[in-house]
Amino acid sequence: MNTTLPEDVFCAITNQIPKTVRLSLFISLARAVRKVTERTLLFAQAQGSPKFAAMLYSFYSGVLDTLDMVVTVRTFSNGAAKKTGLYFASRFQRLTMPTNRQIHIAELPKGKLGVDHFKLVEASMPKTAAGQVLLRIRYLLIDAAMRAWMLGPTYRAALKAGDVMSSAALAEVVESQSPEFRPGDIVYTDDAGCQEFVALDASRLRKLDNIEPLSHLGNIYGTAGLTAYFGLLKIGSPQAGETVVVSAAAGAVGIFVGQIAKLKGCRVIGIAGGQAKCELLTKDFGFDAAVDYKAGNVYQALLAATQGGIDVYFDNVGGEVFEACLFNMKPHGRIVACGVVSAYDADPTKGMQTVRGVPAWFISRRLSMRGFIVSDFYAEREQAIAELKNWVRSGQIKVRDDIVEGLQNFPTALIGLLAGENIGKRMVKVS
Ligand SMILES: NC(=O)c1ccc[n+]([C@@H]2O[C@H](COP(=O)([O-])OP(=O)(O)OC[C@H]3O[C@@H](n4cnc5c(N)ncnc54)[C@H](OP(=O)(O)O)[C@@H]3O)[C@@H](O)[C@H]2O)c1
Repeated sequence: MNTTLPEDVFCAITNQIPKTVRLSLFISLARAVRKVTERTLLFAQAQGSPKFAAMLYSFYSGVLDTLDMVVTVRTFSNGAAKKTGLYFASRFQRLTMPTNRQIHIAELPKGKLGVDHFKLVEASMPKTAAGQVLLRIRYLLIDAAMRAWMLGPTYRAALKAGDVMSSAALAEVVESQSPEFRPGDIVYTDDAGCQEFVALDASRLRKLDNIEPLSHLGNIYGTAGLTAYFGLLKIGSPQAGETVVVSAAAGAVGIFVGQIAKLKGCRVIGIAGGQAKCELLTKDFGFDAAVDYKAGNVYQALLAATQGGIDVYFDNVGGEVFEACLFNMKPHGRIVACGVVSAYDADPTKGMQTVRGVPAWFISRRLSMRGFIVSDFYAEREQAIAELKNWVRSGQIKVRDDIVEGLQNFPTALIGLLAGENIGKRMVKVS
């Protein structure tokens, strides 16, 4: 990696800007560069009074709205200007030094997650050791379970204050000290951390096809699609004509569970928060009915919507929605225990929500409920992806990406997801 002028920083320096022709050329150049680079620094040097400089600054800020910075300085021909020049030179140097922006956990939440639980930190660029690969992160894959990682140990170790926030990611190889990877390769890693760059052992990476749009690798062909596929087909075993209910139905996993169940000839009911999401599910994604759990009395609403009970319940949320579904289960029904979104953003001292009267109900209804982690089925991943690709190509499955721009927006992206802002898979586009 170049340590003096990284490829993602462009510096345009111009003199005497107010000449119309030079100005328009300069603007086109800056815009063109912006399209292909991560950061652009426009360093505009102008002669004149501070008032003139301020006017120029506001003009550029308006016209060059995609640039990070517009700086006007007066000519460097006297002592004061030299000082100004040195100030900007040092700022420029700082901006051109390759750094790695990271999202750290400032403090672990005791109740609801807020932006103050995170902080943006500029760290130095990671270096690769033998067998390692330097990655530029393209998309962080946001999952409600990230909130659970802040509660305590789950299927992975708990996070603590001061850690770089964890995240799975799609990334591009920048440098490689492993024969398996070359610059330009696209990879998936289940723990890249919320940051711009990371150096990881090659064994922690999975090479992916470079497809368009790249984001689909983190969505239908990633954990969301595979979780829906394996959870529904391997554990739910839906049969044509059966009734399948899925919660967080407009979320990343739920939206595919419903569509796959429809492909298998089932009657599908989605549970989601709000009328708008419910309408989207029935109008755009082919669900037969949808229940708005925020409208209250989910049990009654499900009783009416399912027309006789549930054969397969794909549970993404737990809590009260789970209870309402449980007591609507038909004999020999199957419950796919996938996630517990309703419990993640809660006060950890209150623990996970509990369900009353479960054992007796399980016995009398001969129900089965089985938890799973998507990786349990990774031996069959390639076949699953091939089938998902066919369904997407033939238009039988629609894919919805929910993309938030910019690493700095990771905290609001996760908080918003927990509040139900997302439709489909939420990702943070880092580069
Ligand atoms: N077992 C596995 O291997 C595996 C793999 C991936 C994901 N998961 C789990 O699967 C679940 C779904 O993940 P996802 O990525 O599809 O979800 P998602 O896209 O992250 O969406 C989460 C949705 O949950 C809903 N929600 C939030 N609070 C809720 C509450 N109190 N009650 C009911 N719904 C609530 C929100 O939608 P509304 O507007 O509808 O409220 C939100 O959009 C999560 O629990 C995740 O951790 C498990």
